[in-house]
Amino acid sequence: MASHHLVPAAALLLAFILTAPSAGQPPIGQFCDSSANFTANSTYQANIRLLNATLPKNASSSPNLFATGTVGTLPDIVYALALCRGDTSAANCTRCVTTAFQDAQQRCPYNRDATVFYDPCALRFSNQNFLSSTDDGGNVLAYVNVQNVSAPAKVFDAAVGALINATAVYAATNSSRRFATGEKGLGNFDKTNPKIYGLAQCTPDMAPADCRTCLQGIIAMTAKGFSGKKGGQVRGLRCSYRYEQYQFFNGPSLLQLPEPSPALAPSPSPAPANMTPLPSRGGSKSNGAARILAITLPIVAAILASIAICLCLRRKKSKPVRKASVSYPTNPEDIESIESLILDLSTLRAATNNFDESNKLGEGGFGIVYKGILPGDEEIAVKRLSQSSRQGIEELKNELVLVAKLQHKNLVRLVGVCLEEHEKLLVYEYMPNKSLDTILFDPDRSSQLDWGSRFRIVNGIARGLQYLHEDSQLKIIHRDLKASNVLLDSEFIPKISDFGLARLFDSDQSKDVTNRVVGTYGYMSPEYAMRGAYSIKSDVFSFGVLILEIVTGRRNSVSYDSEQSVDLLSLVWEHWTMGTIVEIMDSSMTSHSPGDQMLKCIHIGLLCVQENPADRPLMSVVTVLLSSSTVSLQAPSRPAFCIEKSGANDSDIHTEPYRGNSESTSRSPMSPNEVSITELEPR
Ligand SMILES: *[C@@H]1O[C@H](CO)[C@@H](O)[C@H](O)[C@H]1NC(C)=O
Ligand SMILES: *[C@@H]1O[C@H](CO)[C@@H](O)[C@H](O)[C@H]1NC(C)=O
Ligand SMILES: *[C@@H]1O[C@H](CO)[C@@H](O)[C@H](O)[C@H]1NC(C)=O
Ligand SMILES: *[C@@H]1O[C@H](CO)[C@@H](O)[C@H](O)[C@H]1NC(C)=O
Ligand SMILES: *[C@@H]1O[C@H](CO)[C@@H](O)[C@H](O)[C@H]1NC(C)=O
Ligand SMILES: *[C@@H]1O[C@H](CO)[C@@H](O)[C@H](O)[C@H]1NC(C)=O
Ligand SMILES: *[C@@H]1O[C@H](CO)[C@@H](O)[C@H](O)[C@H]1NC(C)=O
Ligand SMILES: *[C@@H]1O[C@H](CO)[C@@H](O)[C@H](O)[C@H]1NC(C)=O
Repeated sequence: MASHHLVPAAALLLAFILTAPSAGQPPIGQFCDSSANFTANSTYQANIRLLNATLPKNASSSPNLFATGTVGTLPDIVYALALCRGDTSAANCTRCVTTAFQDAQQRCPYNRDATVFYDPCALRFSNQNFLSSTDDGGNVLAYVNVQNVSAPAKVFDAAVGALINATAVYAATNSSRRFATGEKGLGNFDKTNPKIYGLAQCTPDMAPADCRTCLQGIIAMTAKGFSGKKGGQVRGLRCSYRYEQYQFFNGPSLLQLPEPSPALAPSPSPAPANMTPLPSRGGSKSNGAARILAITLPIVAAILASIAICLCLRRKKSKPVRKASVSYPTNPEDIESIESLILDLSTLRAATNNFDESNKLGEGGFGIVYKGILPGDEEIAVKRLSQSSRQGIEELKNELVLVAKLQHKNLVRLVGVCLEEHEKLLVYEYMPNKSLDTILFDPDRSSQLDWGSRFRIVNGIARGLQYLHEDSQLKIIHRDLKASNVLLDSEFIPKISDFGLARLFDSDQSKDVTNRVVGTYGYMSPEYAMRGAYSIKSDVFSFGVLILEIVTGRRNSVSYDSEQSVDLLSLVWEHWTMGTIVEIMDSSMTSHSPGDQMLKCIHIGLLCVQENPADRPLMSVVTVLLSSSTVSLQAPSRPAFCIEKSGANDSDIHTEPYRGNSESTSRSPMSPNEVSITELEPR
């Protein structure tokens, strides 16, 4: 089908980039081709190891930060290509490519052909000789920073178009490394972020014309998806580009472009030629061939760092009496207005010793949490919000009253608020025990949680979430459910924290970007991670990840410089299909546990992480499944985030890696890609 050659955009995935690139980030994406596999201890695997032994060094020691290699003979020959971003240090390059070898084998287990992308590098190895091809065949990943620009979108898009175009041309024709960076002022159009920065790169073995064709292709196919957005990035093995409103690369910009003329502002100027979308050739959008998947991810989810917030509620049985001055309602019915929740700033200052560092319990996505002691010796946890709410103060008050009314055994209770002198403080009851992650993932403490406690924790979280989703007046989507947001009381009863906060705040939490983001990244459903589309089913996804973590005792974090990074979903799925699931259950509790219940939990967990939100159960269904012993469960299919190429034959892999349903051919009518493309398409 000729149309596939013309429409590489079919493979385009748009997701969101974290705004602070660092070597600690997980792979930003991968393409796995499971149509040909090798086996453990095979010659092919040995050849990959040989490549791993020299290719990272060869890439980092070359002035282009680029290396290709071929090892072995047919049928076990392996071709490989590694490229680091032109501004990467040699040490980072070596590290990135080495990690890529490891991750590629984890993310694409035993696949002969795998491609992994990181912020600083990309690696592909394959049994096919792809080294002479300069075409990515549409195997590109695109990421958009979903924040809207403050400059007029038309002016901004034109400026980005000019910058990227010039940077691409420079990379292709003026740089022997095929790498260029540039910047362009926005003048008065954006006073807070007065510049845009761009980067373009091809593999240095490409001829100038091929590099330009490659870059023009990805620029054209993505321009529309990036319109009016603060940042965008497209990554292919052969060529890549990126722009941001901050300097995301090392070193000075090679190109300095002039500011746009002020005269541009009011008139609706047409987008420049290279910023118009690729016309769908050879197939209409309806047949799926030219589909561009615009998938965005609000920063809020990516950034809520997975830090333990030691906010634990405990009912103080021994101290029923509270001082009148700090009393707060315990019955949701009593909370009619914000007045009943208000606590004085002076009281909270005194309670926390003026927010002394020594009282700091932790730092979450919304601010720092301090321990405090009220005059009656009542312990509290005070969350000092650092984010500015996107709502006015009156709306914020109303919202907080509603959040305070959300009371459930499995939710942390908001007992007071303080909105004074630009301070926004939320007060919760304090408990010395910590969040689930601090026990579950601590090898010394995890044995404190036997299977009985874990099962009760799973049940409790399910009930708390069901209450938020289905039973409360508000129908809250948590949006950041994770082990560090599940607090345990003295009896290990789980309480969900930070619910209701996501809707209060702007999604701009870029200041909180840290390497720890990895933890949260692992909980995001594909539609949320890539499109910013969230629903109660995105919470169900996070819950599924949480169950799998609880049963296996492993964190689903994929950090590329971490030795212990685990792509839990793939791991569980692999063991599930191979019938060896018992091997990955947490050994600190498996000895005395009812295996069936654990299997059921894994089963439910897998159902919750299905790629298609519609295939994930509602929390009310989950609680029924958990408590019943008779219901038979539907078999899960491969969970989300195990991206795979189709089983198409070799020559087609790079030209039609993703096909729409109506395009499916006799070879592989139900390839994983069709599933993923269908599900990722905006509904
Ligand atoms: C390769 O392995 C994957 C699972 O790891 C499997 O789904 C796929 O069918 C295998 N491919 C072949 C050609 O055996
Ligand atoms: C591969 O080799 C390792 C160590 O030599 C051994 O433990 C493992 O069982 C082997 N696997 C297979 C599938 O032969
Ligand atoms: C790395 O470079 C050395 C020296 O040029 C070469 O002998 C070796 O084959 C290269 N490694 C690979 C994997 O191509
Ligand atoms: C190398 O990686 C570190 C993070 O590990 C990063 O802070 C630094 O900027 C990188 N340096 C270069 C030149 O890539
Ligand atoms: C790759 O090589 C590094 C050392 O250079 C080694 O630590 C690592 O285990 C190797 N990885 C694989 C997948 O063989
Ligand atoms: C950006 O603007 C569009 C409408 O112009 C709006 O729908 C979208 O929610 C905005 N996105 C953000 C992150 O503010
Ligand atoms: C982009 O670059 C191409 C190739 O040099 C050029 O023909 C075109 O006019 C440029 N477009 C813009 C908007 O700068
Ligand atoms: C790039 O190279 C071309 C000739 O190949 C030259 O005309 C042009 O001035 C160069 N551009 C820059 C910015 O150096």
